[in-house]
Amino acid sequence: MKTFKRILVTSALPYANGPLHLGHIAGAYLPADIYVRYQRLKGRDVVYICGSDEHGVPITVTADIEKISPQDVVDRYHAMNKRDFESLGISFDNYSRTSLPVHHETAQSFFTVLYNQGDLTVRTERQFYSEASQRYLPDRYVEGICPHCRYDKARGDQCDKCGKWLEPQQLVDPKSKIDGSTPVLKETRHWYLPMGRFADTWKAWFDSNKWKENVRNYCMGWYNEGLGERPITRDLHWGVPVPLEEAEGKVLYVWFDAPIGYISSTKEWAENTGSPDRWKTYWCDVNTKLVHFIGKDNIVFHAILFPMMLMRMGNYVLPDAIPANEYLTIEGRKISTSQNYAIWLKDYLKVFPPDPLRYTLAANAPEGKDTDFSWKQFQSRNNDELADILGNFVNRTLTFVERYYKNQVPSRGTPDAMDRDLLKTIGTAPEQIGGQLENFEVRNAVKTFMDICRAANKYFNDKAPWETRKSDPEACATTLNICLHVVNVLSMVMAPVLPFAAKKLRDMLNTDRALWDDIVAQELPAGHLLGKSQILFEKIEDNIIDRQIEALNAMAGSQEESAESEKPAEIDFDYFRQVQLKTAVVLEAEKVKGADKLLKLQIGLGAEKRQIVAGVAQHYTPEEMIGKTIVIVANLKPAKIRGIESNGMLLAVRTESGLRLVTADGDVSPGLSIS
Ligand code: 2FM
Ligand code: ZN
Repeated sequence: MKTFKRILVTSALPYANGPLHLGHIAGAYLPADIYVRYQRLKGRDVVYICGSDEHGVPITVTADIEKISPQDVVDRYHAMNKRDFESLGISFDNYSRTSLPVHHETAQSFFTVLYNQGDLTVRTERQFYSEASQRYLPDRYVEGICPHCRYDKARGDQCDKCGKWLEPQQLVDPKSKIDGSTPVLKETRHWYLPMGRFADTWKAWFDSNKWKENVRNYCMGWYNEGLGERPITRDLHWGVPVPLEEAEGKVLYVWFDAPIGYISSTKEWAENTGSPDRWKTYWCDVNTKLVHFIGKDNIVFHAILFPMMLMRMGNYVLPDAIPANEYLTIEGRKISTSQNYAIWLKDYLKVFPPDPLRYTLAANAPEGKDTDFSWKQFQSRNNDELADILGNFVNRTLTFVERYYKNQVPSRGTPDAMDRDLLKTIGTAPEQIGGQLENFEVRNAVKTFMDICRAANKYFNDKAPWETRKSDPEACATTLNICLHVVNVLSMVMAPVLPFAAKKLRDMLNTDRALWDDIVAQELPAGHLLGKSQILFEKIEDNIIDRQIEALNAMAGSQEESAESEKPAEIDFDYFRQVQLKTAVVLEAEKVKGADKLLKLQIGLGAEKRQIVAGVAQHYTPEEMIGKTIVIVANLKPAKIRGIESNGMLLAVRTESGLRLVTADGDVSPGLSIS
């Protein structure tokens, strides 16, 4: 394994266009903070960088909706998010903003270097334009149907459902987000990064490292489709101006400028430490391990686009690990900021302390698959684990010592087998938990930790010091000495996940910070005077949790109401006639490897035979499909779904018990038009 001298950790720069919710925290911030806190306790040279992403269409769309300026939007949410991160104990070394001059200069210098060395191409192309609003409609200003997965709220830059990077023109049935109109195409000139040109170099680098499975899958999907050329400029008035005279009124694409924000934030940090050049040690020295913590929707930008930009710049380190997380759902539903279905961090922090949330999200981190947050599970993690196991063990140990040993560490006699067992368990805890944290296995680390707390509680019960105090005082003193040693080690290994409780515990133990690797050897000496004991975790009552659930249900209710009240627009007959519906018979059917919802079908329409991909695999087996006469939209533009060509779409009805196919009744030949 490669060894590094220093670690540079980044978390995705959140858009300063709204408050943070639990999905953000579970994906890109808490796992990074846990990793960074662990590395600091190991005594490693680590810098943790983040900041607000203040450009791009997400910001201007919010400004349009709220009828305020983009600057007002970012000022408001930058301050709010910075404050909420701090309250949750997310310990950035620097939290910057991409609207700062240092960022504009850095991003422009990237563009200029690439431009000067001939890495960019320029083209005049037709792009979406709203005649009603007299403006171009880049990226999220257009919404429509994803050509890959048919998600009907895909945005012009990316589909939230299948994660593909899109160009607005690829959307089916595009609509302007500003005025609902169907956009027209109008010529405009833009600069492109010909990613295909650099694809081989990128691939060689990508293959030389071991990546998390989701990172590999997203990137290979994209690579196999061909990287092509991507426009890196936009017709917008908000953003980093393109540093070319001929590009008046254009800005850099937000996904070109945002990752450079990691560098400008490091520059700002270096400046603040009094050594302005120090940022180079982290970004331009091969001995740096660069780790990007992100959510899965950001994978291709961090694993393909940004590394490619850094490669072309030369002299920059490339990411060594990208622990991209899957999504968090809330009470079984997808989080939706646009539909206001989320648990907002600011609301959580008004009611609860930070550690129980950190613990719950860490124990249930969406590392390998999407996971769910529920308020009941949160309550149980707090009450049954933090309070009843960890808190109870700490409390019974400390109050016993306070009461019977004048709050001083009693001395250890000769350990028996049970003592030795627990000493062994706690002796290997830092290494075991450390190994898991080093590998980004937060869930496992939390489980190991809580299992040790369980073992410690059992030890206390089995040793029954309340009895040995009279019958065998030396054994009793040994028990409490060992329990205090365990508490001391726990206060270290819990610190990355539970920093506030860990600090409280070290105060109770009246001991200074130590390093991760030294804690087992650095036992509290006999006679050491402890601090005042306090309750580590308060239990959370049912009525408090019930109130949270009610608030969430109200959000979910209004989401359903608004979905019901969204009446589809009326269309005239000519419009309908453009949709060609035809009967078809299913000739062959097979499952699509790696996609549990999809079936690949060969269908016959009279003389014609074609292939479609349909999302019905969870409702029909391939055998059930064969021979059915179905109804398809026959003139749908061909699309690639999971890399497989699909020439049409079958019709189905969503019922409570699942999807049911629309089939033709009686003796109907395939290939007939439906009218
Ligand atoms: O998806 C997002 O929220 C983006 N603002 C993330 C940017 S990450 C980095 F590149 F800055
Ligand atoms: Zn899609």
